[in-house]
Amino acid sequence: TAARPLAGRRVLVTSGPTHEPIDPVRYLANRSSGRQGHAIAAAAAEAGATVTLVSGPVAIPDPAGVRVVRVETAREMLVAVEAALPVDIAVFAAAVADWRPEVEAGSKKIKKDGTGPAPLPLVENPDILSTVSHLEAGRPPLVVGFAAETDTVLDHARAKIARKGCDLIVANDVSAAGGVMGGTDNTVHLIHRDGAMETWPRLGKDEVARRLVVHLAGMLTR
Ligand code: C5P
Repeated sequence: TAARPLAGRRVLVTSGPTHEPIDPVRYLANRSSGRQGHAIAAAAAEAGATVTLVSGPVAIPDPAGVRVVRVETAREMLVAVEAALPVDIAVFAAAVADWRPEVEAGSKKIKKDGTGPAPLPLVENPDILSTVSHLEAGRPPLVVGFAAETDTVLDHARAKIARKGCDLIVANDVSAAGGVMGGTDNTVHLIHRDGAMETWPRLGKDEVARRLVVHLAGMLTR
């Protein structure tokens, strides 16, 4: 029905940052609040879907009617995502840390030893969106990525679709002027695999989520 366009569908959403431990008390992270991803999970549940939300560490409440799996690191997020498949729609809204400290955090805090800061070599984290997009068996019919850009948003989004193999990119401008990061509003551009693009007006993240759910339900039945 119009009110529950995702009835009978399974939806997976990732949300929030990841924390990549340096030692027991320190980590690498980013400024994601989880607001947009959590709003999408809530909107999908309201639209009738069975929703799994895989969330990094956030300070906002769990959305109603959603199964929440909490993780810390990118590698834990990938494991939780794979365990949540199969789904009809996968939305990767998490701001996954691109890199993690190469040396696995031990149980001891790294101490100042008077010789200056220790080097902190990093290694690349798995790309969860790309991994799921390129699955040979069990790829969700609809895979959605996000692009948080501070400049040339659209060029980057088009390149990202090709590289990551997803069906749709939701691009938002997170330059300081926009106030999107951590804020309640979002201005998004939807870029499809075939190049089709639409831009939505500045909206609350809840409204972006509701519209996105309707849009995705339409893509699934086309
Ligand atoms: O490459 P970039 O981080 O800009 O891509 C953003 C998109 O890729 C988002 O949808 C994000 O959730 C996803 N991503 C991911 N795993 C990573 C890095 C990004 O799923 N390691």
